Amino acid sequence: MSAVSDERPTSDLTVERVVALLDGRSSWPAPLIVASTGSTNEDLTRLAQEGAHEGTCVAADEQTAGRGRLDRTWVSPPGAGLWASVLVRPGDVPPDRLAWLPLVAGVAASDALKEASSVRAELKWPNDLVAIAAACGGSDGPRKLGGILSALVPDAGGEGPAVVLGIGINVNMGGMDLPITQATSVLLEGGRLDRSDLLAALLLALESRLAQWRAGDDQVKRDYRDRCATIGRLVEVDLPGGRQMSGVVSGIDDDGHLVVSDGEATTTITAGDVVHATI
Ligand code: BTN
Repeated sequence: MSAVSDERPTSDLTVERVVALLDGRSSWPAPLIVASTGSTNEDLTRLAQEGAHEGTCVAADEQTAGRGRLDRTWVSPPGAGLWASVLVRPGDVPPDRLAWLPLVAGVAASDALKEASSVRAELKWPNDLVAIAAACGGSDGPRKLGGILSALVPDAGGEGPAVVLGIGINVNMGGMDLPITQATSVLLEGGRLDRSDLLAALLLALESRLAQWRAGDDQVKRDYRDRCATIGRLVEVDLPGGRQMSGVVSGIDDDGHLVVSDGEATTTITAGDVVHATI
């Protein structure tokens, strides 16, 4: 284990500090912060089924069974990152707006990183947080700082469906701790931050971005597109079912889908794993 890992703070994430930092600016309940759990998404899904309110947040110092997109595991060692899930109750928001929710969470997470650290994050479609190109130091693509896993809870305590937004941000991980070479952390990008600061900033940013999303305010879509490192790139996309396609990304449509042109046709992609062939 590297010297960096040995220096990990283990007590910088506490409910008292987060509540003090929020200083009455949030209408959401105080977050629940636990030392260790399997997955905060699983915990929050259970709370949603018991009727938890919008903004309920579960964060953990460590996850022993963290989950990522596309059925991957999410490595979540103690003290090494922000592992948190936040509940959204869409209520009467039109269902066609739901596809934007994970993207809205990505914008909020990049807002929070900007607020709590010197590290700037862009977004790789749909919602990977990546270190910006200038910080990539000659690497051959964007490096992943964090990601978002959203899950619909159809039967959420008799109050209509709910959505769990699970957000993972690598904070104090050293090179040896990272699961893949394309990953990075706030520390490796030259930043330092206190995870209570980051969680408080994330909750405030999410509350404000969700208000824009709920009101149909296009600002959050504009900010997503401005920060989306995938637009204009040559990409390869692994599609569900094992198919692949490549082309240049011309944009993100109004439903939050990726629009890719291969010179002959333009395809709208609703789900897939994108590899940036160029950055
Ligand atoms: C991705 O694959 O990019 C999404 C990763 C999401 C990880 C977070 S950490 C908190 C929450 N709990 C989980 O088990 N996963 C999400």
